Amino acid sequence: MNDNFNLYGKYYDLLYCNKNYLAESSYIDTCIRSNLPNAHTILEFGSGTGGHGLILQNSGYDIYGLERSEQMVNEAKLRGYPCEQADITEFSIDRKFDVVVSLFHVISYVNSNSSLEKVFRNASGCLNSGGLFIFDVWYSPAVYYQKPETRIKRVENNEIEVVRIAEPEFRTSENIVNVNYTILVKEKETGNWIEFRENHPMRHFSIPEIGLLATTKGFTIITVEEFLTGNQPSEHTWGVNFILKKNE
Ligand SMILES: C[S@@+](CC[C@H](N)C(=O)[O-])C[C@H]1O[C@@H](n2cnc3c(N)ncnc32)[C@H](O)[C@@H]1O
Repeated sequence: MNDNFNLYGKYYDLLYCNKNYLAESSYIDTCIRSNLPNAHTILEFGSGTGGHGLILQNSGYDIYGLERSEQMVNEAKLRGYPCEQADITEFSIDRKFDVVVSLFHVISYVNSNSSLEKVFRNASGCLNSGGLFIFDVWYSPAVYYQKPETRIKRVENNEIEVVRIAEPEFRTSENIVNVNYTILVKEKETGNWIEFRENHPMRHFSIPEIGLLATTKGFTIITVEEFLTGNQPSEHTWGVNFILKKNE
C-alpha cells in the first residue's frame, strides 16, 4: 500500500499541535446536525491519528476510521480511536453509515480521476440513503491566485526539535502540486540530527469538477463553503468544504 505518511506520521501530531481540532470537529458536528439531525454513525476516510474522530466520538457519534498509513493507524489506536489500515480507493466494510467524513485535505491526496471515482463510489456504497459525504479539498482558484511558496516550520517538545521544509512543484496540466517535504529531526539528548524526505502530491479542485463527480456517483451538492468559517469560496480560500447528500 502506498504510504507517503510512513516517516512523517511519526511527527504528525507534533507538527500539527496547534491545529484546532476542537473547533473543526464542532464545525463538522454543526454541518451534520443542520443537514441530518438524527445522524449517529460516521465512517472517516483518512482518519490520521484520530484528531477529529476522537472528539466526534466524545460528542456521542459511533465513528470508525479508515487510514492508509500504518504509522498513523498505530498512533490513533494508542489514543483509543477505532480504526483500521485501509485504502479508501479499495476496501470493503459490511456496514452502512449515516455520514462519511474526510478531513484535512484527504481527498486532495487522491490524484487520478479513476481513483476519485472509486472513492466517491465507495462513499456512496457505505452510506444509507440520504446520507452525507463531507470533505474539504484544496481549491483551484486559491492555488492559482496564491501560488504556494517554499515554507519552513519549526516545532519542538522536550525530546526533539523538528524542522520541516515544504517545497512546492507545480504539475499544472494535472491540477496537482507536488509538496516536497524535507524533515530534519534533532534528538535533544544526543544532539544528533536525522533527515528524510517525503513527497505529497496534492490535487486541487474547482466546484464544477466536484459537481460532476458528485452527480455521476449519485450525490447532490448541498453546501460549498470555506472550511470552518462558512464564508463563500474565493481566490483567498485554500480549503473548501463540500457537503454532499446521497440521493434517496
Ligand atoms: C493531512 S492528513 C489528515 C489526517 C486526519 N484526517 C487529520 O485531520 O489529522 C491526510 C491523511 O490522509 C491519508 N490518506 C491519503 N490517501 C489515502 C487513501 N487513499 N486511503 C486512506 N488514507 C489516505 C494519509 O495517510 C493521511 O493520514
